[in-house]
Amino acid sequence: MINVGSPCLNGNEKKYVMDCMDSSWISSNGKYIEQFEKMFAEFVGAKHAIAVANGTVALHLALLGVGIEPGDEIVMPTLSYIATANSATYCGAKTVFVDSEKETGNVDCDAIEKKITNKTKAILPVHLYGHSFDVDKVKAIAKKHNLFLIEDAAEAIGATYKGKHVGALGDVGIFSFFGNKIITTGEGGMVVTNDDQMAEKMRLLKGQGMDPNKRYWHIMVGYNYRMTNIEAAIGVGQMEKINWHLDRRQEIAKKYDELLSKHQDKLILPVQKEYAKHCYWMYTVILKEDSETSRDEVMARMAKKDVETRPVFYPMHSMPMYAHGNESFPIAENISKNGINLPSHANISFSDQEKIVNALIESLS
Ligand SMILES: Cc1ncc(COP(=O)(O)O)c(C=O)c1O
Repeated sequence: MINVGSPCLNGNEKKYVMDCMDSSWISSNGKYIEQFEKMFAEFVGAKHAIAVANGTVALHLALLGVGIEPGDEIVMPTLSYIATANSATYCGAKTVFVDSEKETGNVDCDAIEKKITNKTKAILPVHLYGHSFDVDKVKAIAKKHNLFLIEDAAEAIGATYKGKHVGALGDVGIFSFFGNKIITTGEGGMVVTNDDQMAEKMRLLKGQGMDPNKRYWHIMVGYNYRMTNIEAAIGVGQMEKINWHLDRRQEIAKKYDELLSKHQDKLILPVQKEYAKHCYWMYTVILKEDSETSRDEVMARMAKKDVETRPVFYPMHSMPMYAHGNESFPIAENISKNGINLPSHANISFSDQEKIVNALIESLS
């Protein structure tokens, strides 16, 4: 079976993990945490990077960092992984969904403003599958209405907008290092910001609200959202080879483009907008609406040929806990219904890609 995602640990990861074991620094204190945060902050061009247990809690911290409170409204795309909406719910805030733009599946910037009310506190767009949303457009809306811009860049390490790394372009941004991400720490996440006060608050919240100058004196209700030194050790090993990981994704995407370009009568291939550098966390194809075979059937046939694929996320407004109202989001719904994520990880070879594309094309009819 060729898997959709798979970690690629071909640097110093094992050596650094063994260093944690040998030194017994296996918990959330230790030199790798600081080193990983420093490397990550430099890479994305942010003043502060705060390592946490996963991308979901990174989102929760980011929302608490900007001061989201019960009753606030947060505008976000419906087409995302469920953690985006859940982070708002954890704060007692209301999720307000927006449809997607057709080409990238990212938030439709022109639809955001209609959703803003006097309760709106933040806009939380997602760099879906590694392609930047139009940051300047969203920033302008956020500025006009005095809202925070929180970037969910969980899937987008290495992606840029107008040459600048995404995630560090709004008030606060987050990344995920789950095992299927471009770089991984097993489970893990990072919050980045240029705001000193917000960084300090998020560090406090991440560590049970404990006063950094007085041990076991807690000055707010915090959380244990810490990353372990072992996870950070893996992260340092991954960051040392970040450019290799990103180059591999570009090669894989280029090869898919090449192999699939003659099938565009049946498939819509990923685009790269002029402002974006896609990092191709996932290479996603969308079946044309007149496809003779359904997306789920195509995926089932591919699985029989030993190729694992993923359906594009179900829009969050269709999940039971977020189905408030009868609004429809036709573009997100269509992308979700017809979209397939192909295996995109760094370990696949060009011959694997040929096998994947053959399986896909044969499964379409
Ligand atoms: C858009 C988005 N946000 C948040 C997350 C949450 O990250 P994690 O799985 O590390 O909690 C993910 C995870 O894949 C994601 O895709």
